[in-house]
Amino acid sequence: MNNRLEMIYEGKAKKVFAHNESDKVIIEFKDDATAFNARKKATFKGKGKLNCLISSKIFDLLIKNNIPTHYLEIQNENSIIAQKIKVIPLEVVLRNTAFGSLCKQTTIKPGTVLAKPLIDLYLKNDELNDPLLTRDRIKLLDIIDIKDLDFIIDLTLKINTILKNFFNNIELDLIDFKLEFGYNSRNEIILCDEISPDNCRLWDLNQKNDIIVSLDKDRFRNDLGGLIEAYSEINRRIDNFI
Ligand code: TMP
Repeated sequence: MNNRLEMIYEGKAKKVFAHNESDKVIIEFKDDATAFNARKKATFKGKGKLNCLISSKIFDLLIKNNIPTHYLEIQNENSIIAQKIKVIPLEVVLRNTAFGSLCKQTTIKPGTVLAKPLIDLYLKNDELNDPLLTRDRIKLLDIIDIKDLDFIIDLTLKINTILKNFFNNIELDLIDFKLEFGYNSRNEIILCDEISPDNCRLWDLNQKNDIIVSLDKDRFRNDLGGLIEAYSEINRRIDNFI
């Protein structure tokens, strides 16, 4: 059945189409990759399909663990059907190990395992380069009710426990990840966007020495090469486990 209507939004890595049921959308994963707020761009044939497959399986896992998400079903290799949401303009980053911007902006050494997860909240605004927020700035800008923010933080910590354990089973260390949330038609807060190597840092635990082997978008961010091979390896390990 062709239930896909007009495109309603195009982001850096996904396109969103209207669905013939008004409370649903179709999300298509693109092969495009961007980094550093799209100052760096490339296309990787097959990335969209891999992220769609990986993300769908991770959302299934989260739903089984009672996490409310926008994911409804996979439509084909490149697209999913999801609940239509009103986006909350926050990027919620959870860090288990220090890496990336945390180490560029502070004195903490890359690879430091954090005593407890650190949650960093950013404003989802490309023009402003997604600035880091404080709770007081969130209140000042009236981005979200503080009780809804606390609900999101609690949900993010629960998601971390589920994902860390899952990835550990397939020999991957979940270093950090970025989540987005929205309100569905019943005004409930649900997890949206995607969960894939585009927005998670995943290090291979299958290494004899201490070298870091990134199986995520850092392969592109840091010009390491082998992005499709890394994403395929993650997809393969998930399939072998579930
Ligand atoms: P960061 O170290 O650059 O702040 O990134 C932390 C995590 O968030 C990492 O897993 C990559 C992810 N991320 C996104 O998904 N989108 C973004 O725009 C940024 C900056 C990071």
